[in-house]
Amino acid sequence: MKRFRPYRTSETVRNRYADVTLSPDEFIYPYFIIEGNNRKEEIRSMPGVYRFTIDRLLQDLVLPVKHGVNKILLFGVVDEEVKDERGTAAYSPGSLIVRTIRAVKKEFPEIVIFTDVCLCEYTSHGHCGLLQGNEVENDTTLPLLAEMARQHALAGADFVAPSSMMDGQVEAIRTVLQKEELPTRILAYSAKYASSFYGPFRDAAQSAPVFGDRKSYQMDYRTRDQGLGEIEADIEEGADWVMVKPALAYLDILQRAHTRFPEIPLVAYQVSGEYAMLKAAAQLGYLDEQNTFYESLTAIKRSGANYIITYYAKEFAAQWKENNQK
Ligand code: PBG
Repeated sequence: MKRFRPYRTSETVRNRYADVTLSPDEFIYPYFIIEGNNRKEEIRSMPGVYRFTIDRLLQDLVLPVKHGVNKILLFGVVDEEVKDERGTAAYSPGSLIVRTIRAVKKEFPEIVIFTDVCLCEYTSHGHCGLLQGNEVENDTTLPLLAEMARQHALAGADFVAPSSMMDGQVEAIRTVLQKEELPTRILAYSAKYASSFYGPFRDAAQSAPVFGDRKSYQMDYRTRDQGLGEIEADIEEGADWVMVKPALAYLDILQRAHTRFPEIPLVAYQVSGEYAMLKAAAQLGYLDEQNTFYESLTAIKRSGANYIITYYAKEFAAQWKENNQK
């Protein structure tokens, strides 16, 4: 008989045999930014997550930063009347996100800023690129994404994260950054699946497509190897970090990405629906929230992710700080 129970006799012993641990500097917290002053809006489908005006964002950052969260991902949420066919507000100089980057850099120079580069939050039709009829056009969208990334880079973003799933988006952005000698790096949303787990996000960012869905550009989850092909192409195009999204339902892809491209930092996005499911079940008293989010995040890390984008980053860090101060 082989005995395993000696590995589990006490918390101290279990800690000694734990292969996977988590720490706040591996997490990236997403923030939704709105125009205006002194506003913090609740997001109905994501309890505990808010939309902030820039001034309120700066206030909100104090605590997570103190707890060790040092990476954030910014999304702009603009009013309907600002949106147009071409998503102009996404790449205009002095855009909402450009002003946010500058404000955060001034007050918290130690924070690593990631920005989402996609048109869907800014187009009147809610699609991630330019339309030709009812189709999203790939190649005419590329210069707009490159310009959006350039504006973020000029403002001081550390990473731009193209998420529109247009072919060649990484190369288009890399070319512009190189030409202007900007040090900003690229986190590619490489294997991004057309997922219903994004539902609450579209509520948060007011970015649901007005017609149709995103299946003609985001990946089909019934494919097995395409995700690895997407990652490989993005690395060839010059991505510095790559991503698999969503996370928990895609641990197989994460694990294979980690094995196949061990040299490149791998990010997993625990998306809005993953967060909302745990929140809702916890609110109903069906499961213990703290234990389940810990278990989920550990599984994501165990599968090979180096960093995790998660709406739980703040809660995790607050708790972690408490435990590690004892
Ligand atoms: C697109 C974008 C989306 C998410 C991140 N970037 C929505 C989509 O592609 O439909 C989803 C993130 C989440 O669900 O938490 N800009």
